[in-house]
Amino acid sequence: MPKAHTRYVCQQCGRVSASYMGRCPQCGEYNSMVEEIVQAEPTGRGSKGQRGLSISSTPHRLSEIGGEAEERIPLPIGEFARVLGGGIVPGSIVLVGGDPGIGKSTLMLQMAMVMASGTANIPPRRVLYVSGEESGRQIKMRATRLQAGEEKTHPLPDELYLLTETNLAAVLEHVRQVAPSLLIVDSIQTMYLPELESSAGSVSQVRETASRLRELAKSSGIAVFIIGHVTKEGIIAGPRILEHIVDTVLYLEGDRFQAYRLLRSVKNRFGATAEVGVFEMHEHGLREVVNPSEAFLAERMVNAPGSAIAVTMEGTRPLLVEVQGLTSPTQFGNARRTPNGVDFNRLLLTVAVLTRRLGMKLAEQDVFVNVVGGLQIDEPAADLAIAAAIVSSLRDTPVRADTVLIGEVGLAGELRMPGQMGMRLREAAKLGFKRAVVPKRLRRGEPWPEGIDVIEARSLRQALDAALAPAVPRPKGRKVV
Ligand code: TYD
Ligand code: MG
Repeated sequence: MPKAHTRYVCQQCGRVSASYMGRCPQCGEYNSMVEEIVQAEPTGRGSKGQRGLSISSTPHRLSEIGGEAEERIPLPIGEFARVLGGGIVPGSIVLVGGDPGIGKSTLMLQMAMVMASGTANIPPRRVLYVSGEESGRQIKMRATRLQAGEEKTHPLPDELYLLTETNLAAVLEHVRQVAPSLLIVDSIQTMYLPELESSAGSVSQVRETASRLRELAKSSGIAVFIIGHVTKEGIIAGPRILEHIVDTVLYLEGDRFQAYRLLRSVKNRFGATAEVGVFEMHEHGLREVVNPSEAFLAERMVNAPGSAIAVTMEGTRPLLVEVQGLTSPTQFGNARRTPNGVDFNRLLLTVAVLTRRLGMKLAEQDVFVNVVGGLQIDEPAADLAIAAAIVSSLRDTPVRADTVLIGEVGLAGELRMPGQMGMRLREAAKLGFKRAVVPKRLRRGEPWPEGIDVIEARSLRQALDAALAPAVPRPKGRKVV
């Protein structure tokens, strides 16, 4: 074994210390010292060499490097494959993040099971599932539960290996023996390297264990999936160190009390980012949702005040979602604005525009906005639907049931055109919507798609007039566009 020792480095100013200090003596920052491994010998681990020249790193002419697309292992879970960019890239390292209890282990075990079983045209692959969180029995129970949902039961696949271990050095040893094509590590926060003094889950452990797994992936061609819990602040293991180490970052998100789960790619060296896969959590694991817009609109109450349909783009796929708004007279002092599924600041902005530009009396109203299905929408293209849901509730007048709303709201109360309008409108038409209220086109572009009546509105006021059901007794002089 090469001799290695550890040292502590301040993440703020770079001050190095031999022992841990709660406060950096140089910059005065608290808890900024992070442990690092220092390789004593330049040859480092094994014979590969960490420093100096190694034979494999010869410069090549770019023109001489093969440019074929990455070879991928097909993954028979379509929604998962789409997020990865088409399948599993051998030698890649993927981080699957998400809140505790959201379904990360379930998703990974499901993937492990299909990959190890294979399908009619995909040969089985050897999978090693390493768990530092649960016992073998617990995982076995989950696997049986997942299988119970299938039409015909078959034995658990022989190519699926399970290891309960938290010492990464031991894990790597087992990987060498089992020689899997796929390695799943559940979770990175439970893994530790004995060389480091800090405890599992600390920044230094997480960084070092992830780097070792990355080396393993790159040197062996094993595809590695690591599960990471997102802390309350929405950050994986303190700083976002992991995101730089891995090739692909996926987040599994959704409302824990609702069935829908979105698998979102936020970084992908092998495919498009912002791609989304939609699943539904069932009694027997996660099930793919192939027509998400239909699913999200399934429970919609038609002609109820306070509901509007937005068309957002999730990656390359348009998604129709119901946005609900509720206004209610403020009881004690300050009016509250409560978003669920939309950004707080966008809600404040929308309410401010409605108050100042349209003269709505929202100052003494609590405003609640909810995106149905536990979805989180960050796209400004949903502004118009948010505004319409709020106004619809305030006036107690429904938004027309056959209408979708697309548009970003500007501070002057104007509407702005989001991108990919053609795709959004086609999806709305496909789902049977007859009208779309959109921003006015200032330049001539492609004609609007067929099959849906497109109403262009220059301002939020015009758009709301077009969207709300006509039965409203409107104040005099207002023009319907
Ligand atoms: P889990 O995969 O353990 O979450 P994570 O690894 O992200 O912490 O999933 C936990 C939740 O999923 C748990 O509340 C139970 C639920 N669940 C189902 O509803 N159906 C199932 O078939 C399984 C396996 C879990
Ligand atoms: Mg888990």
